[in-house]
Amino acid sequence: MSLATLPDLISTAQTTEEEFLRHIFVRDQMAEWSKQPLIMERAEGVYYWDVNGKKYLDALSGIYVVGIGHRHPRVLEAIRKQFETLHFSPPMHGTNPLAIQLANLLSEVAPEYPGGEGWTVKFQCGGSEVTEAAIKLARQYHRLTGNHGKYKIISRYQSWHGSTMGSLGASGLKSRKTVNEPLAPGFIHVFPPTCYRCPFGKQHPDCGITCATLISDVIDMEDPATVAAVIVEPIGHTGGIIDPPEEYLPILREFCDKHNVLLMFDEIITGFGRTGQMFAAQTFGVTPDVICCGKGLGGGYVPLSAMLCRRTIADQFWGPIAKNPGFVEGHTNEGNPISCAAGLAVLQEILEHDLCANARTQGARLRAGLEKLAKKYGIIGDIRGKGLFMGIEFTRNPATKERFTNDFGLQVGRRALHNGLLTRFDPHWIAIGPPLVSTPQQIDDILGLLDRSIGEVLKP
Ligand SMILES: Cc1ncc(COP(=O)(O)O)c(C=O)c1O
Repeated sequence: MSLATLPDLISTAQTTEEEFLRHIFVRDQMAEWSKQPLIMERAEGVYYWDVNGKKYLDALSGIYVVGIGHRHPRVLEAIRKQFETLHFSPPMHGTNPLAIQLANLLSEVAPEYPGGEGWTVKFQCGGSEVTEAAIKLARQYHRLTGNHGKYKIISRYQSWHGSTMGSLGASGLKSRKTVNEPLAPGFIHVFPPTCYRCPFGKQHPDCGITCATLISDVIDMEDPATVAAVIVEPIGHTGGIIDPPEEYLPILREFCDKHNVLLMFDEIITGFGRTGQMFAAQTFGVTPDVICCGKGLGGGYVPLSAMLCRRTIADQFWGPIAKNPGFVEGHTNEGNPISCAAGLAVLQEILEHDLCANARTQGARLRAGLEKLAKKYGIIGDIRGKGLFMGIEFTRNPATKERFTNDFGLQVGRRALHNGLLTRFDPHWIAIGPPLVSTPQQIDDILGLLDRSIGEVLKP
């Protein structure tokens, strides 16, 4: 049986394409989107096809989600099989074996604490839900351990932790915040480690890593008795792939320990092999107290996210019922058995095929290719990222770092899309995050299409 195409659906609805598309909000600016609406119809491996039959090389894993590729038989089979036994378990009364199994596997693959302490996991459906859960965990943990006044969350400008009100409060993107203000109180923002354009006018390595050391001063100024947690993306995305200097995260770890503040990594993009290790915490050699992950865990097959916290923190929630309500947080679909079956299959696929190693190898190939493009065109000022999470910043003049004034990054990104290449683009940068299963040829194809797109935009 063939599936209905877009023209079939429009004709069944007895309407016009324009009217048909008016009933959905998309993430893009709607008026712009509807001029040339991108509507994907099917996908396979590292490729998409839109409703017009046009093929796209998915250099973004959807949006850093489809790590093991589209329509992977192992995951499809795991989902099919799970549907035959249990597709929903009552979340108010307990959980199901798949969720427990996946929690155990996550605890195994997450970074190790000395003594093999392990991790305890809270499942949700999306990234925003787990960053929000992490904020609640930090506040409840401090209450349970007698530090009732610790509630403030320190996060960074330009960050993105999600679109629910709490996670949005932690986020630092004015373009997404201002329109929703006032936001929840209790969030303090600091400058991120944007070394290429240091907010303090300094230069690494002679900068003293001011962006990190200042966080200790901020905790001091705010009063450590009021600060619950610091949350950062190990490599920031929305500011244009903010890859910190190697000293940065260890300094944060040290200050958080000093002030009894939880260090929380938002690994919703960086988790599950993207930076060349299972978690970026392992790439940077710094173990946080809490890891938020999502996207690559469900692989795009199911909505699935997870908040991992150190056992010693979780243990505080196991007290007697008279004094301890447990972790007060939950959603209807948490730990859904279909989602967890898919998550297990995705994770086993990453482990069995050592896709983290492939991310390192192909990431090195991608970086080398981007460096060649930088030499060829002289308009790439900086190449940032790790593994298969890379970004390039465009500059009119790399020597002076002068920016383009014509939304050059957007032009290149749109041209790339026209040429059949899916990337993430902004006025000044482009990010690339292809599936972990990408082959050398596919990496070369990405570079080829990018090369062509930059060349076409630069043509007088
Ligand atoms: C780093 C980071 N954190 C949190 C989120 C929010 O995740 P979701 O959109 O699944 O709610 C995102 C989404 O892009 C993200 O990139």
